[in-house]
Amino acid sequence: MKAIICERYGPPEQLQLLDVPAPVPQKGQVLVRVCATSVNDQDWSMVNGTPRIYRLIFGLFRPRHPVPGIELSGVVEALGPGVSRWRLGDKVYGDVSNGGMGTYADFVVAPEPELRRIPDGLSFVQAAALPHALELAHQALIGIGKLKEGERVLLNGAGGGVGTFALQLAKQQGCTVWGVDTGDKLKAMSALGFDHVIDYTQQDFTQLGERFDLVVDMKTKRSPRELLRALVPNGRYVTVGGDPGRLIALLFARLLGRRNLHIVALKSNQNLDSLASLISNGTLKPVIDGPYTLEDAPRLVRYFGEGRHTGKVVMVVGGTK
Ligand SMILES: NC(=O)c1ccc[n+]([C@@H]2O[C@H](COP(=O)([O-])OP(=O)(O)OC[C@H]3O[C@@H](n4cnc5c(N)ncnc54)[C@H](OP(=O)(O)O)[C@@H]3O)[C@@H](O)[C@H]2O)c1
Repeated sequence: MKAIICERYGPPEQLQLLDVPAPVPQKGQVLVRVCATSVNDQDWSMVNGTPRIYRLIFGLFRPRHPVPGIELSGVVEALGPGVSRWRLGDKVYGDVSNGGMGTYADFVVAPEPELRRIPDGLSFVQAAALPHALELAHQALIGIGKLKEGERVLLNGAGGGVGTFALQLAKQQGCTVWGVDTGDKLKAMSALGFDHVIDYTQQDFTQLGERFDLVVDMKTKRSPRELLRALVPNGRYVTVGGDPGRLIALLFARLLGRRNLHIVALKSNQNLDSLASLISNGTLKPVIDGPYTLEDAPRLVRYFGEGRHTGKVVMVVGGTK
């Protein structure tokens, strides 16, 4: 099969499309023919080996698993022993990061419970854009953030995958939504329905003089004290990721009693089945940058890492749209 291979940590230009043996499904695993995959923060970190502390997970000296990619849509091609939920030919999608990486390839093996049936009416390209970012957005806003109707919500790092889903979830509840990002994304964000957009290179959202009921942060870069300044008295702050040092400071602040500061620990694919009808009827729509092809992966990983994308960067694999 064809796969994108990352032999060592470094710039994405070192990624190569090579012929490698297809994986064989073991007990409880499903072999999926990948039709589309998407670029995520984890791929950028895995290819670059940064922040360096992540090498404890990806491999100390080189990536332990050389094929990047955690998100897929595709077709069940073979079943390992003991698999009961899936049949050959089923159309599936999912965030398979719990079972490793490897979706930048014609085939990948995934643990049976990490896959979900593609909702009716959804293309492979759309399905590949959903699992990771929609789950992060849902768990941050609804699960932990306890979003309520009509609240004032600020999304920091709002132009990417998580932010564009978070906007849709907040708008469903009639909230007023501020979005913080930079560059060309700001225009695209206004078109998508953000009520206010802020350029983080020009303005610090913690110094706006506005107070929010809920702040969801995709890129935590500020101290707990600064973040608390942006909240109304009973406001909640929820981060999905950011600078490791800042996240540790948040954990300490929480331990010291700031119980309205939260960090999401993603539970992959948890709500996808219950959101299927909203996905099928178009209430929740992925914002897709692309689709591109797998051959483009080196350029796209850089494009993503430099934050030039809007929404989800999707690649088709093996020519399926
Ligand atoms: N909690 C968990 O379990 C878990 C699991 C997986 C991933 N994650 C995290 O979830 C996040 C993924 O979000 P995503 O997929 O939406 O990423 P994304 O598509 O890269 O979007 C993030 C956006 O934030 C912008 N940004 C960068 N620095 C910023 C700053 N200082 N202020 C405001 N905006 C800034 C980026 O733009 P520029 O680059 O142009 O600045 C980009 O547009 C990552 O932080 C990842 O580490 C969390």
